[in-house]
Amino acid sequence: MIGAQWGDEGKGKITDLLSRSAHVVVRYQGGVNAGHTVVVKGQTFKLHLIPSGILYPDTECVIGNGTVIDPKALIVELDTLAELGISAENLFISSSAHVTMPYHRMIDQAAEERRGNKKIGTTKRGIGPTYADKSERTGIRIIDLMETEVLKEQIEWTVQYKNVVLENLYDLPPLDAKAVIEEYMGYADRLRSHVVDSSLLINQAVRQRKNILFEGAQGTLLDLDHGTYPYVTSSNPVAGGACIGSGVGPTMIDRVIGVAKAYTTRVGEGPFPTELCDGLGDQLCALGAEFGTTTGRQRRCGWFDAVIGRYAVRINGIDCVAITKLDVLDEMEEIQVCVAYEIDGEKHHELPSSARQFARCQPIYKTMPGWKQSTSHCKSLDDLPQEALNYLKFLAELMEVPIAIVSLGASRDQTIIVEDPIHGPKRALLYENGITPQVA
Ligand code: IMP
Repeated sequence: MIGAQWGDEGKGKITDLLSRSAHVVVRYQGGVNAGHTVVVKGQTFKLHLIPSGILYPDTECVIGNGTVIDPKALIVELDTLAELGISAENLFISSSAHVTMPYHRMIDQAAEERRGNKKIGTTKRGIGPTYADKSERTGIRIIDLMETEVLKEQIEWTVQYKNVVLENLYDLPPLDAKAVIEEYMGYADRLRSHVVDSSLLINQAVRQRKNILFEGAQGTLLDLDHGTYPYVTSSNPVAGGACIGSGVGPTMIDRVIGVAKAYTTRVGEGPFPTELCDGLGDQLCALGAEFGTTTGRQRRCGWFDAVIGRYAVRINGIDCVAITKLDVLDEMEEIQVCVAYEIDGEKHHELPSSARQFARCQPIYKTMPGWKQSTSHCKSLDDLPQEALNYLKFLAELMEVPIAIVSLGASRDQTIIVEDPIHGPKRALLYENGITPQVA
């Protein structure tokens, strides 16, 4: 299950729905930059790394090798679960995942400040610097954390090296290697019982024909390779990332479910063609409670962008989509859908790979009439007002993909299951004849 936009598509609720049919839930990329709000026994709390499948006592939850783990933050999540009486016995952490260190957080914050008006708007959780060290081959992995002598040697060497960067490049105080070693040895003791070879665990589950849900964090447009670079995160949230980030072969993935909001939001910097910088944007933000779970930042809001939707279908090989937060549009007089872009009078049906060109894209809209009534009680497509149904049909046609789920509110029962996304028919090679949307 992947995000088809810039993250925050409402994946948490869909994961919760799908987790009921899953024996194993795997988080395969990202770190504590992600977040979802969970309500247990009337209490609201936030999870950043642990899949929300942990709320189901028999579901095994895996934090895969493709993630970056901030042990301090993970332990806070474990403590919160323990306080609520939720067992974390079924939580497994990949021994190959990389560890976020204090210098990663410091560098992320300092680098953002240094970038000035070129800042990315990161969550400042040290995600980019942790992945950078992984690629540079100076990273510390969970398995290193488990081997005390290796850990000591690695931290001593790395802290010495990073202190040069902290002091000379960012004018920051150096770190004390001994204190860092002590802190991380404490984390190691706490996490040890959860550490496994997660690829082995997942592949054993495959052999036992268990249902496995791979849960992407962030979204397609934040993907390091396929997103709106450089305004992206440092990992691969796209469906292909599931294989790399969890150690399963592509032949093991049965289907890909995309999640898209009925409109669009984005946190952080970067171009956003359908952004509404007026009262309507504020209205969407207020109605949709569009504030980040991790940073509390107000999300930028705009109309649904079908160019992006279609792109996400292509990049991920999406079989079916879940459209979330349709109810947020309930009171709109008219709803706009971006069907293509225009640059210098020329029409574009695909996302330009140049960031400069993308920033110049003007949306071409098709205006749809609103339905001006509440949909949050609707239990089937037949209950929906005709205009809402037309809107959904139009999105499906533009994205060239069937809609399997429609979400109309935060609670589990505010959901229309059009077609079972797990057991329903798999998308055939639809639209091979290359339907291009009709632009009004
Ligand atoms: P980083 O992942 O903290 O490096 O941030 C890079 C970009 O991804 C920034 O624009 C963030 O706002 C965005 N981002 C990271 N995680 C999320 C998320 O879970 N939801 C939405 N945006 C995110």
